[in-house]
Amino acid sequence: MRNVRIINGIPATKSRYGSHYGERVIEIGGEKYREWIPWRSKLSALILKGHEIEFRGDERVLYLGASTGTTLSHLADVIDEGVIYAVEYSAKPFIKLLELAKERENVIPLLYDASKPWLYSGIVEKVDFIYQDVAQRNQVGILKANADFFLKNDGSFLLMVKAKSIDSTAEPKEVFDAVVEKISRDFSILETGSLEPYHKDHIFILGVKI
Ligand SMILES: C[S@@+](CC[C@H](N)C(=O)[O-])C[C@H]1O[C@@H](n2cnc3c(N)ncnc32)[C@H](O)[C@@H]1O
Repeated sequence: MRNVRIINGIPATKSRYGSHYGERVIEIGGEKYREWIPWRSKLSALILKGHEIEFRGDERVLYLGASTGTTLSHLADVIDEGVIYAVEYSAKPFIKLLELAKERENVIPLLYDASKPWLYSGIVEKVDFIYQDVAQRNQVGILKANADFFLKNDGSFLLMVKAKSIDSTAEPKEVFDAVVEKISRDFSILETGSLEPYHKDHIFILGVKI
């Protein structure tokens, strides 16, 4: 992934900015890199496990479930010439997210419920990529609704799925199979994979709008 390198065994993003969540900033050859902690970020875990997602750096991205901006801060280093619309509905993490948006011109913070995309349809433009990490029971519906509103044809998405947030009693594999089957009704799935050992009972689903 552009602007990412592995330093001391973990991913790090080249950045013009300082630490956002206590991660170390390392200087190499006059450039600053922010350590991207795989236990704190599912996207970092995905990279560390050898999966690749290509970005040009000027994409329009919709990020659903941005929380305090941990992963978002790194994605903003990667998409440094694009725009990321960051949706979070909980006021507490949103305060920290606002701190990030104040220093990053490419982050637009939106305090909205991602299950109601029509509420922010006047703000968000068509996007190339949706990153979703809402840990909600209805996450497939949330993805579909947002893709219908905002994802360009041929645009792609990355969905992070936590088995326990969908069904806390079922076997994770059963939950994942059901989610993959549901998603494949509306999207073309490119890749799925586990995020273990960094995130227990989590998988990612990478797909494209068809
Ligand atoms: C697992 S955390 C996200 C962590 C974050 N993606 C990261 O890696 O830094 C899930 C977040 O999704 C938010 N969330 C859950 N349902 C949501 C919804 N319907 N609309 C907006 N945010 C939602 C939660 O408030 C929580 O902050």
